[in-house]
Amino acid sequence: RLEASGYEIVERLLLPDGLEPLRSQLIRLCDQRQPYLILTTGGTGFSPRDVTPEATLAVAERQAPGIAEAIRAHSLSITPRAMLSRGVSVLRGGTLIVNLPGSVKAVEESLDCFLEVLPHGLEVLRGEAGDCGVTRSEV
Ligand code: MTE
Repeated sequence: RLEASGYEIVERLLLPDGLEPLRSQLIRLCDQRQPYLILTTGGTGFSPRDVTPEATLAVAERQAPGIAEAIRAHSLSITPRAMLSRGVSVLRGGTLIVNLPGSVKAVEESLDCFLEVLPHGLEVLRGEAGDCGVTRSEV
């Protein structure tokens, strides 16, 4: 889905449960590889093992809550269980980190609502943006 939208995938990771593995990998990725975007999937629910939001907030330099809010708002129109995802979206340096829920269905539904808007946000983040005053069809 990302490649079809023009993204180059530079790394894919499968991590063990726990806050520290994700926290340390997010820091490494943001500070060394410096991708525009990191998407996590899973670990956003209420299980004691679900600590993806806490690991993400631990590396955040700035909040970018609108994306997580948009995901939940869009997802709630599909399933009330969307309110059970605690995912966050934050910035560290020039990287946007977005937490997605764990199921493939939920990931696809989440991408549906923000992928189109993302290029403009990422360009602004990197100081590469032009005019903000474009219509939705131009984002
Ligand atoms: N969001 C969308 N769009 N579609 C879904 O099916 N499932 C929910 C929610 N968000 C869902 C969704 C469910 S059932 C849970 S428990 C939470 O995401 C947390 O999922 P996670 O623990 O796999 O991250």
